[in-house]
Amino acid sequence: MASTCFNAYKRELKNIKIFHGDIRILFNFLPKESIERFYILFPDPWPKKRHHERRLLNWENIENICFCLKRGGKICMATDILDYKNQIIALFEQMKIFRRLKFNPIKKNYRWFLNKNTKYEEKAIQEGRKPFYLVYSKN
Ligand SMILES: C[S@@+](CC[C@H](N)C(=O)[O-])C[C@H]1O[C@@H](n2cnc3c(N)ncnc32)[C@H](O)[C@@H]1O
Repeated sequence: MASTCFNAYKRELKNIKIFHGDIRILFNFLPKESIERFYILFPDPWPKKRHHERRLLNWENIENICFCLKRGGKICMATDILDYKNQIIALFEQMKIFRRLKFNPIKKNYRWFLNKNTKYEEKAIQEGRKPFYLVYSKN
């Protein structure tokens, strides 16, 4: 958080807003179809099966994201947890309003993701876990 603010200050960015809190609270304030793109990168994996419902990318949160997303807007996601990747694909397949962009999920597609790894992405790669990348477009 502090480094994000400091970097924004150093680069004199004027078009940035930072929310330090739970995104589920923010969903209450984001207007309908107002957001061009969401990035959800390496959300907490909650590996135990009984904790899967705590995963950020669950039905309720994807519906909230869908509400805020513009038509044609994108949701770009990455995880290093195979089971989470499969859960995301299964959820989005049930939501007919989304279409998955066609590219190999084990190859990072620089059209949608930065050519710079996040902290957790770097950790996953160093520890031998292969990240998956998925992008869905809202029809
Ligand atoms: C595994 S870390 C990944 C951090 C970063 N995206 C990266 O790739 O290095 C997961 C992050 O998601 C944040 N997080 C989890 N649930 C959240 C929520 N409901 N709202 C906002 N942030 C959340 C956690 O605080 C944590 O920083």
